[in-house]
Amino acid sequence: MQTSTVQIQQDPARYRVLTGDRPTGPLHLGHYFGTLQNRVCLQQLGVELFLVIADYQVLTDRDTADRPAERAEDLVLDYLAAGVDPERATIFTHSAVPALNQLLLPFLSLVSVAELQRNPTVKDEIAHSQQNSVSGLMFTYPVHQAADILFCKANLVPVGQDQLPHLETTRTIARRFNDRYATTVFPTPEALLSDAPLLLGTDGGKMSKSRGNAIALGADTDQTAQMIRGAKTDTERRISYDPEQRPEVSSLLLLGALCEGLQPQDVAEEIGDGGSATLKRRVTEAVNEYLRPIRARRAELAADRAHLRAVLRAGNERANAVADVTLAEVREVMGMR
Ligand code: TRP
Repeated sequence: MQTSTVQIQQDPARYRVLTGDRPTGPLHLGHYFGTLQNRVCLQQLGVELFLVIADYQVLTDRDTADRPAERAEDLVLDYLAAGVDPERATIFTHSAVPALNQLLLPFLSLVSVAELQRNPTVKDEIAHSQQNSVSGLMFTYPVHQAADILFCKANLVPVGQDQLPHLETTRTIARRFNDRYATTVFPTPEALLSDAPLLLGTDGGKMSKSRGNAIALGADTDQTAQMIRGAKTDTERRISYDPEQRPEVSSLLLLGALCEGLQPQDVAEEIGDGGSATLKRRVTEAVNEYLRPIRARRAELAADRAHLRAVLRAGNERANAVADVTLAEVREVMGMR
């Protein structure tokens, strides 16, 4: 089921949004246009925002997390730079909210091993994992994600297509919990799918921090120019928007268009026979112009790590208060008080 922007605009107070990211490195333009911008937009509409920094989830496909505390602060930095208002949003880490994690136990009792094994996104993650054995955490992380969402009774979850199976697990768990304990403790949250088309990395593959093909929000203008100059294109001089036949050129057009507030077809039209060099110059200019205020804010915030830590501390406190109340309710309906 889908919730529309119009519904949200009409009654923003009805919605509580939870979404989040794994702290595995700096956020890039794919994150920005795919979800960050939308989060800020929801917040500006008056929707309450919870952002989980999924530090435990990092452990699903690797043995240890690399400098988790620092990475968490870096995510806070990117969130704030993108325009998330920490006065109104609750930004927290998994690991700092014990009651959230305790929800995992009753939730695990509500799903079968077969259901966990069927999850297509988990299967995909396992296929791409660098490890030769699959951890128990990997199989259970959709249930963990249900705890992330349900601890604060979020009813709207902005996610990408790949996260839909997890949201389905969350919905199943919410319904089964309510049924089994004859209660209405949990809402059945809905997905909010981004309508932003997918941006490719500069090599034409999936944009990803680990593949070195992504322009980080915090990259400087020279690094941005260099990345775009090296981007894969094709040899046809006439620039056209054709995502099927010309994915690389089209992705650059899309990026430029998103930054300039235009349609990619119109940018293509204006470039005409200018070829890849003109396209790249234009996109570089557009990206650097668009990111200028975000990067300026980011640089200012980056100079004050104590502030980032304070934002996280306040978010963790608030998330704990909310999680404690939910866990108490859960224990009450389970007769475990
Ligand atoms: N699994 C998400 C990702 O890999 C991150 C995440 C963790 C999340 N908990 C969440 C997203 C809850 C939405 C809701 O990007």
